[in-house]
Amino acid sequence: MSLFRLDTSIRTEGSVSREVTDTLEKAYLEQHPGGTVVRRDLGTQPLPADLWGTAAFAGFTPEDQRSEAQQAAVATAKELADELLRADAIVVGAPLYNFGISQHLKTWVDVVITDPRFAPGTTPLAGRSVAIVVARGGGYGPGTPREGWDHGIQWLSRILGDVWGGSVTVVEAELTLAESTPAMAELRGLAAEVLTQAHERAAATGKEFARSVA
Ligand SMILES: Cc1cc2nc3c(=O)[nH]c(=O)nc-3n(C[C@H](O)[C@H](O)[C@H](O)COP(=O)(O)O)c2cc1C
Repeated sequence: MSLFRLDTSIRTEGSVSREVTDTLEKAYLEQHPGGTVVRRDLGTQPLPADLWGTAAFAGFTPEDQRSEAQQAAVATAKELADELLRADAIVVGAPLYNFGISQHLKTWVDVVITDPRFAPGTTPLAGRSVAIVVARGGGYGPGTPREGWDHGIQWLSRILGDVWGGSVTVVEAELTLAESTPAMAELRGLAAEVLTQAHERAAATGKEFARSVA
């Protein structure tokens, strides 16, 4: 039983996506005390931004003609893909940055796709449960001025679900900046409610993941 956990928040103190993902992980392990959690933290240990270009062009180069950098990039892509394929369930913490995902997470996806097992047309995560834990500072709900501006979750759901074939659950916390932003003071009550709901959904999802792989 193994859960792969990918964190991408660029902060470790006060990170809502990390806290909500902790709740999912805890619920998963409560159901499966012997289960393992494999972690990768792109927030504190990002992949080099040029890794993708090197890995992508390595794919167009015959194996025996690849440079050392290309060989290393292919090996890293394989390592990242292996981490995903070895897991029974996957959770990705995905804060909203500048209306999208972090460039660290985008690089990770782009590099994974260079592995032949993730080539276009394959659905390597079919049969696997995937949770995306979103944290965003503002509010993006129906009817709000920023409705439709969260381009992170739409894209990530496409990749993990529609492209890679995983069964995706989204856990969302928003208004996370309300507590520290005076202009959002009147939204603090709502922010607290949303956070409680996110933890509840994360706990239920972790439990469900453990059940589904049992
Ligand atoms: C560089 C940066 C850019 C951000 N851009 C956005 C944004 O476009 N929209 C938004 O709602 N919040 C934005 N935020 C706020 C984060 O989404 C929010 O703090 C979230 O809780 C971060 O996740 P974390 O709590 O796991 O660290 C941004 C934060 C940072 C540091």
